[in-house]
Amino acid sequence: MARQRLERYTAALEFAERQVAALVERHPDYFPIYTENGRWKHGGELWTDWTGGFLAGMMWQFHIRTGDATWRQRAEYYSRLLEHRQHDRNVHDLGFIFLSTYLPWYELTGERQLHDVLIQAGRTLAMRFQDRGQYLRSFVAPESLFIDIMMNVPIIFYAANETADQELRRVALTHCRTTRDTIVRADGSTAHEGIFDLATGEFLRESTHQGLRADSRWARGLGWSLYGFSKVYALTKLDEMLEVSERNARFWLDRLPADGVPLWDFDADPTAPPPFGAQKESSAGAIAASGLLDLAGQTKSPERAKAYRETGLTMLDRLVTPEYLASETPTWEGILKHGVYHTEKNLGVAESVMWGEYFFVEALTKAVTRESILAKG
Ligand code: GLY
Repeated sequence: MARQRLERYTAALEFAERQVAALVERHPDYFPIYTENGRWKHGGELWTDWTGGFLAGMMWQFHIRTGDATWRQRAEYYSRLLEHRQHDRNVHDLGFIFLSTYLPWYELTGERQLHDVLIQAGRTLAMRFQDRGQYLRSFVAPESLFIDIMMNVPIIFYAANETADQELRRVALTHCRTTRDTIVRADGSTAHEGIFDLATGEFLRESTHQGLRADSRWARGLGWSLYGFSKVYALTKLDEMLEVSERNARFWLDRLPADGVPLWDFDADPTAPPPFGAQKESSAGAIAASGLLDLAGQTKSPERAKAYRETGLTMLDRLVTPEYLASETPTWEGILKHGVYHTEKNLGVAESVMWGEYFFVEALTKAVTRESILAKG
């Protein structure tokens, strides 16, 4: 069984390499966000420019797994194109951009200049901190906190750990606690957005941009929280952070449909038509699968470790079938079909999305590496 799975996952990774190689050959220096009818190049709205690190990050993943020098050259080249973003104060996505690119690059080389970029990116993101409210504001407005930021705050912890900067650590930790106390619910589900009173800092209400409703359970947001709090636990070793990730995981495991891929929102009506009803969201599945594989190594419960790992692999087993993997869809330029970007704006619905591609590759790479070790006994 382990061998069959290893072969299927390896074949999916090889397909992913071919799709990314075709993309960079067809559209050099281009960082797409989502496909339209399976094509990366189109004039559709971006909403916000946050996904460059995922394309370059896949190149690093490919290089690290295979040792291929061409992937290394491409990874360095595409990462350099993103370097100026270390000063970008318009997005809350600097963790996405730099932890998938400059971090693996720095870990491979130990070059000081790469380290400096990571530290600067952490410092830039920390500038989003709102004293009134005690959170990092989202890109949309000062009164807004997004659950997505949980995947980016790790770069502030990274910078704090590397520089022993206690103020950076305070900002990052305070943001996590505010997120937990406002938009992570007791049952482990999450709201997409929290809205605060700018004058008093008081938390006012849940809200959403990409979920079904303010009080619904947007699947990708839950994935961001599960994986984000697990990353923060890895960087802080604070049990209170592990507790949130495990609460998210419990909700995920309890509510995941039997076929292993969530609808775009856990409150979407599966009997209603897409895009607001029965629309699968493969990128949420890929994010959660990757997070669960990590969480399996973090939890203190052997039973939960087994459940997290099995669920992560079950989701990947489904995503590597031709229903999701584009390997048998001839003109499709992406890797993973049935992702969703923004339902309300009708952007990238039932398409390939760049973060879905990245976390799918990341999760498969983790699984293959560990399976290889297991297979070798
Ligand atoms: N971070 C934006 C999204 O998840 O679509």
